[in-house]
Order: sequence, then C-alpha cells, then structure tokens
Amino acid sequence: MFHCPARLHGPKQIFLLVFLLACAFPGTAFTSGDKTGILLVAFGTSVPEAATTLDHIRAAYEKAFPGCPVVMAYTSRIIRNKLDRGGIHVPSISEGLDQLAKNGALVVRVQSLHIMAGEEFAALARSLLLNIKGHPGRFRAVYLGRPLLESRADARAVARAVLGFHRKKGAAPEALILMGHGQEQGRADLIFEGARATFRENDPLVFMATVEGARTFDDMLKDLGQSHVKKVVLAPFMLVAGDHARNDLGGAEDDSWASRLKAAGYDVEIRLNGLGDVPGIDDIFIKHTKDSTDDLMLEPKKP
Ligand code: CO
Repeated sequence: MFHCPARLHGPKQIFLLVFLLACAFPGTAFTSGDKTGILLVAFGTSVPEAATTLDHIRAAYEKAFPGCPVVMAYTSRIIRNKLDRGGIHVPSISEGLDQLAKNGALVVRVQSLHIMAGEEFAALARSLLLNIKGHPGRFRAVYLGRPLLESRADARAVARAVLGFHRKKGAAPEALILMGHGQEQGRADLIFEGARATFRENDPLVFMATVEGARTFDDMLKDLGQSHVKKVVLAPFMLVAGDHARNDLGGAEDDSWASRLKAAGYDVEIRLNGLGDVPGIDDIFIKHTKDSTDDLMLEPKKP
C-alpha cells in the first residue's frame, strides 16, 4: 500500500530493478505503487530543544515508511521567519508539497501533528485544498491524517502513554498537572474535556487546564485543592515543550503556573517533555497516517 522505492526518479536501471522487484512479490500491486511522500505539519517551535522532539517524530516516520521522503513543515510564519534569520529554513506547507513533488512523490500523505482538530487543523485542511487547486494534476492523491485525539480509543491510548511516562510505581501520591493550549473561540474545548475525563478515569490525580481555552488555571487550582496533595508535577499537554511550557507553565515570572502553585504552597516539579517525547505517541500519529483513506482530491464518499 505504501510503495516508496527510494530512487524511482533515479537512473533507469534502478527504476527497472524496482519495477522487477515490485512485480516479483505477489501482493505488491504495482498499480498502486505510486511513490508516496509524507508531509508532517506542526505549528513549529523556535526552541532548539523542542525541535529535537520533532526530529524524533520525523525519524519514527522514516522508519515506519521506509524509502518514502518525509518532510516536516511548520505553519507558523513568525517561527519560520525567526528560524530563517538564524540560518535554519523550515518549509511552509506549500514549500513542503513542492519538495515532495520534486522528489517524485505522486501520492502525498499529510499528517497533522496537532493534538486536536481545532483552528490550526482547519487551517491546514484549507491550505491543502487551495494548494491542490493551484497545482492541478501534480499529485494523484492527497490524504490528510487526523490529529492525535480523534476518538475515545485515541484518548485512552494517549492517557496510557502519558501516565506510563510520568507515573512511577510505588511513588508517593503526587498530582500530575497537564497544560493544554486551547483557543479563545472554544474550538477543541470539548475534545479537551473528553481527554481530561479519560485521564481522570485512569488516574484521579491528573489535573488538566489550558492556556487559552475554557478550562483555566483557576478552575484547575480549585480542583487540585480538593485532592490534599502537596507535591505537583507540571508538564505540557502540547506536542513540544516550547514557549508555553518554558514561560507560561514553568517560567520564573510571578504569573507562570509554577510560580502560582509555589505561591499556593505546593512543592513543584517541572518536566519539560512535550507529548512528542512520550513513547507511543508517535505510533498514534503513524496509525492515523496509515488509516487515512479520505483523498482530498475526490468528493467525499456519500451513500
Ligand atoms: Co500558543
């Protein structure tokens, strides 16, 4: 299904060899053997330590889709411009698609590295549609993989992975506080609440709130007060431990979550690990990439 000969665009001999190999193995239908390219799309980060998280995700994709070109694009223009000034060029969505086309990809699997389908995911889908419209016939199919939290099964898998990463067996009871992003318009608030409920079913000492969404730090603090724990562990519920994690969550300023919790008498530990650092999270994204059957170039299938 994911046919990614390494050098299909290379010398004719290699093409012939790949063709013969592809035909030699029954079940490897050459008709569906269009070269696939992967475009990973993240908001982006200008924090170098956080960028290594994204490098690991890219490496996991290269392993999961051997021979397929894998390109990572950032949607944030501010971050791309900032990195450009430092001599690091990260492609935008349209530059990423150009790179894959240049690499000979005819089928593109785009994977959203967003945590939930909020504003950023909607913008990604729109950018892709406009790009397809602007380059008719360039690709045979463009699939879009859904974000991390799409289903109850995803929420359970994410909770399992995150709790496995942060919780040590036999440790004294401590609260795990996770900072989600959220959005002022409320998009994704409900998905966030669903994820929070799933975490709480597994571990009542998990407390979740957002920087910009409906569930606030104050809501969380009230909730935390009922638990009578003294020790709290703080971690971002975002793909990488970028600016929000380093400033709004763990920063030294008086209004960071860490400072406010310390002021409220809690013993605070900050863990700067994004969700992308948690083993098993990349597998959920990869599953969404492989599961996507919705070709953006076709009308949605209707009964
Ligand atoms: Co933000």
